[in-house]
Amino acid sequence: MKKNMNISIKSKEDIDKMKKAGKLAADVLEMITPFVKPGISTGELDSICFKYITEEQKAIPGNVGYNGFEKTICSSLNNVICHGIPDNQKIIKNGDILNIDVTVIKDGWYGDTSKMFLVGKCQPHNERLVKITQECLYKAIEIIKPGIQLGDIGNAIQKHAEKNYYSVVEEYCGHGIGSVYHEEPQILHYGTPRTGIELKEGMCFTVEPMINQGSKHTKVLSDGWTVETKDGRNSAQWEHTLAVTSSGVEVLTKRSEESL
Ligand code: MF3
Ligand code: CO
Ligand code: CO
Repeated sequence: MKKNMNISIKSKEDIDKMKKAGKLAADVLEMITPFVKPGISTGELDSICFKYITEEQKAIPGNVGYNGFEKTICSSLNNVICHGIPDNQKIIKNGDILNIDVTVIKDGWYGDTSKMFLVGKCQPHNERLVKITQECLYKAIEIIKPGIQLGDIGNAIQKHAEKNYYSVVEEYCGHGIGSVYHEEPQILHYGTPRTGIELKEGMCFTVEPMINQGSKHTKVLSDGWTVETKDGRNSAQWEHTLAVTSSGVEVLTKRSEESL
């Protein structure tokens, strides 16, 4: 691994190891999908993921112990933007929208990914929020290649969100990732084209837009983790871990349902 300024450039061998971690993280989201049904608690979903990562994958759940977080997944329901804490008392119900965000460490390398779940039958406005937020992530992925700049990524996301009358959360962002969970650079989900750091082959980072139905403003609950929308309206998020290649980008946390 070479370092240029503070942004590490990963070698082919490094990225091969990140692919393994990324695949395991993606597999956790695929494994948990059939369990995400009305009546299960977010605490139970967390226990299933913990067991799967430690016992089946023989890997490490990257969130456990991170800055004092105690759980394997973040489970963010409806008006929760991110960092929801799994809880055996919190039962998901028909019509909820849920984000599950998981990080797996394998052989010292990290994979970080999240997806939205529509629980049972959801209202069209919630289905639309979830779909447009995924499109925001995909629009960013589509343009990533060496030579583009971080502002181009943020702008692609912001333009698509705002065109659909949504707002982009500004306080939380994507991040460089590798043998460290969160490293430089920060990947803002809003921005101005042709500004910011230029992408180079071997950079690895997440893109994880948080998109709100109402205003962009956030608040953190007294548990010190849970981030909610200030106005109480719903929020969605999708996340992938990416590696910049010579001609484009590789999605290290791709699930089999995705054609990326
Ligand atoms: N996975 C989150 C991210 O995308 C970070 C979660 S930190 C935790 O960067 F401690 F809340 F798990
Ligand atoms: Co992340
Ligand atoms: Co994450």
